Amino acid sequence: MKLDLLREAESATRWQMMFRFEDADSAAGWRSSEVHQALQPALKTLHIGMTVQGYEGARPVGLDFSARQLDHARRLMADAGVDFPLVHASAEAVPLPDASFDIVFCDFGAMTFADPYLTVPEAARLLRPGGLFAFSGHSPIATICWPLDADEVTDHLALDYFGMHAIDDGETVSSQLPYGEWVRLFRASGFVIEDLIEPRPAPDATSTYTSTEARAWARRWPAESIWRLRRG
Ligand SMILES: C[S@@+](CC[C@H](N)C(=O)[O-])C[C@H]1O[C@@H](n2cnc3c(N)ncnc32)[C@H](O)[C@@H]1O
Repeated sequence: MKLDLLREAESATRWQMMFRFEDADSAAGWRSSEVHQALQPALKTLHIGMTVQGYEGARPVGLDFSARQLDHARRLMADAGVDFPLVHASAEAVPLPDASFDIVFCDFGAMTFADPYLTVPEAARLLRPGGLFAFSGHSPIATICWPLDADEVTDHLALDYFGMHAIDDGETVSSQLPYGEWVRLFRASGFVIEDLIEPRPAPDATSTYTSTEARAWARRWPAESIWRLRRG
């Protein structure tokens, strides 16, 4: 099993930008990674053996509350020739023991849709002291510039900043908090904030996911947030 993904998670730098802007710096490694393909479920929890050199002893576990998504994951895992446990549950209430993981990470998954007042304490509960929690999602700035009836982010403020929590556009409920609320929630849950990474696509980055306009927006303002947190 290739474990470059775990090394990337440890540095928690470019994953989302790579995912959305595939020509951005070092995107190729991620896109071709069989592990990345296999780890599609929303909340990815990774347990790393304590005695190994590098990450050879890693034991990943995938979690999603959609049975259909887990079926996709099983198919991708079979294609990639990897096998690890998949858990069908919500990230708001994970049926796994306390302190059982070294890394919890999530790429535009449950942390974008579930209630952060439940998922952040759950991530803290699942991690051993010193464990890493890294997740990506829309930035609060992007959220307030994204009208509920629009397909893409705009260059004007559309939503209230204060009071952001569950954002219902009539089809999907997503979650977002003001920056200060995120910080207070992390600290109250026992995390130390190591970084807030705000990826900026290269001027010529291309994407199969977003438009040229969205890239231009993301060149001016942070479209995405990657939080890197350490369990105290
Ligand atoms: C946009 S997809 C992202 C999937 C994957 N991370 C990726 O980058 O392709 C969001 C995923 O979050 C999952 N999800 C949403 N709310 C969840 C929750 N409360 N618990 C677990 N998974 C959840 C959805 O079922 C879906 O698979």
